Amino acid sequence: MCLPTGDTPGPVYRRLVRMAGSGATSLGRATVILLDEYVGLPPADPARCDTRLDRELISGLHRSPSVHRIRVDDLDPVAAAAAHDLVAAAGIDLAVVGLGMNGHVGFNEPGSGVEAPTRVVTLTPGSRQVATARYGASAEPLSGITLGMDRLLASREIWLLVRGATKAAILKRALEGPQSAECPASWLRRHPRLTVLADEPAAAGLG
Ligand code: PGA
Repeated sequence: MCLPTGDTPGPVYRRLVRMAGSGATSLGRATVILLDEYVGLPPADPARCDTRLDRELISGLHRSPSVHRIRVDDLDPVAAAAAHDLVAAAGIDLAVVGLGMNGHVGFNEPGSGVEAPTRVVTLTPGSRQVATARYGASAEPLSGITLGMDRLLASREIWLLVRGATKAAILKRALEGPQSAECPASWLRRHPRLTVLADEPAAAGLG
């Protein structure tokens, strides 16, 4: 499964850790592939996606899944993206993704087409600021690596997680606006098994 980071999945991960602790579930046999990662942040930076996933989910599990992080520390970015894409090419059963304020999915920022591949991307100013202001990055990252829309749409199933009133307008646009690269999340509607898991404030604007 592909797993995201960011503020959205926190409650899901906390619940999973509790359930794993009580034996109600286990991710011990799962293979996890990270959705995206910053380029240029040092290992263990609090905003790093791998750091966050470890902190919020993996470290709390008794039986760890096998985790494919993005190799930004030991490969150059283009090679790290290619290596990650090779992992994704084996096939993703479940892609869990969040929704950016600008409609991005992973770091598939506006401008990303339906076939956008796994690649190094230049982050939008908004995504850069989120890294420092909200996620506590030690420096503003300029770029990132993301699984492509192509790999996400090739997954067997997609769950889009959306929380909070601040996401209501972009969720409405993603689900009810035109399918276009201006809102990459709108491409998710092409998938036959897309499940949108939104809380009430996020879903408030939907028709
Ligand atoms: P958030 O980020 O979960 O922190 O709101 C989601 C995203 O930008 O994809």
